[in-house]
Amino acid sequence: MSDERTPDAGRPDFTVESLGPCRHPSPMGLGESPGDGLVDFVDDGRRLLFDLDLHAVRAELAAGAEPAALELAGPRSRLFFRPNDVRAAIVTTGGLCPGINDVVRSIVLTLNWHYGVREILGIRYGLRGFVAPDPPPMPLRPETVRTVHHEGGSFLGSSRGGPSAAEIVDFLDREAISALFMIGGDGTMRAALAVREEIARRNLAVAVVGVPKTIDNDIPFVDATFGMITAVSLARQAVDAAHAEAQGALNGVGLVRLMGRESGFIAAQAALASGEANFVLIPEVPFDLDGPHGFLACLHRRIVSRRHAVVVVAEGAGQQYIPEGERRGTDASGNPVLGDIGRFLKGRILAHFREHDVPVTVKYIDPSYMIRSAPPTASDAIYCQQLGQNAVHAAMAGKTGLMVGRVHGQQVHVPIRAVAGRRRRLDPEHPLWRSVLQSTGQPVRMVNEDPAGPTVTPRP
Ligand code: F6P
Repeated sequence: MSDERTPDAGRPDFTVESLGPCRHPSPMGLGESPGDGLVDFVDDGRRLLFDLDLHAVRAELAAGAEPAALELAGPRSRLFFRPNDVRAAIVTTGGLCPGINDVVRSIVLTLNWHYGVREILGIRYGLRGFVAPDPPPMPLRPETVRTVHHEGGSFLGSSRGGPSAAEIVDFLDREAISALFMIGGDGTMRAALAVREEIARRNLAVAVVGVPKTIDNDIPFVDATFGMITAVSLARQAVDAAHAEAQGALNGVGLVRLMGRESGFIAAQAALASGEANFVLIPEVPFDLDGPHGFLACLHRRIVSRRHAVVVVAEGAGQQYIPEGERRGTDASGNPVLGDIGRFLKGRILAHFREHDVPVTVKYIDPSYMIRSAPPTASDAIYCQQLGQNAVHAAMAGKTGLMVGRVHGQQVHVPIRAVAGRRRRLDPEHPLWRSVLQSTGQPVRMVNEDPAGPTVTPRP
């Protein structure tokens, strides 16, 4: 996937761990042979090429290496677990994200209806629920989850941080859990890996399956995390509103701050979806504030020529400009707590134009949590359903230490050890960023030391 920069990516090892041989027939009753008009079980040997670039594939083959490929997700004809013996647990962790309830519902319904698994525990309020007695885990039945997907949020509750892997595995062992589903972002995938390693140390037969959740879309390898597109749809409304406000005032500036701690996908895609942004500032693309080629000078030129401008800033952008005291350490997941770049920019924009005696009106919009607390759009809802189903199929086949996700449009298994500790970021050389530059007309670089000077992307 070329729109991700994964430090020290190397050649990914996509081998998925297994708990052991699959001795039990699946109760799903699917077909086994293509062409008979029946939907088939997925053959365990099927793989999807990770890098679709023909030159890259040829180079790998020429070097005598097999191109990196991912295991296809889906129901297997033979299972590691005897369905009747399975007890499952589901936990949702980290910040909210559209579609969490859909994934939980899909896992519960698939376990219940397709495998006959009746004992499913919903862990309350994130990882802390493995150790905290109050509230206790919630038994999950189809009736419990019947309508949860109509609402945003997490009906199980979520939180950041939590107990050690050893304490979590103590719980799994004590409760005789055989399949653990962990729905969360990068912090959760790190926790999932630690839990998997502790399970292996104790030689327990417990499958650990992750589902990639975060509106930031910063999980590597998968096409997208669930909920991201819904967040973008909601963020787009903020950009459209900023445009209306900017146009409605002489020298109006509509400024929108959007979530995206270290990855600017939401800002970039909301700007593209709206088509009304003139500047997009993201953590991956450095910019100067001052100087002839800095952001304020570029905004100045835009205001003078067009009398209004829309600026979209990702919350993680330009953090180096925020005074030290306004940055606030790290949260319980170890993520930096960011200073408010939106308010900071508003102040700097007003000061700049005051200094140059140009009257401007700045309307600042920060939709904040509104973009992640809604139920998912149709495409995310479909994605969530399939993620939940495939997470269950993987666990029942004894796959472990993996995350389900979509790559090149197909659902696959990605080993968590390949994901944990890596972050997907928007590559400024990727066509996605090129589209943003073309749509906004902002300079390719807004830095002063660029010897070539700023290049202006002509606006159609
Ligand atoms: O889940 C990712 C995210 O939405 C980031 O974009 C944002 O910085 C963070 O969560 C804020 O989460 P909270 O305030 O809940 O810790």
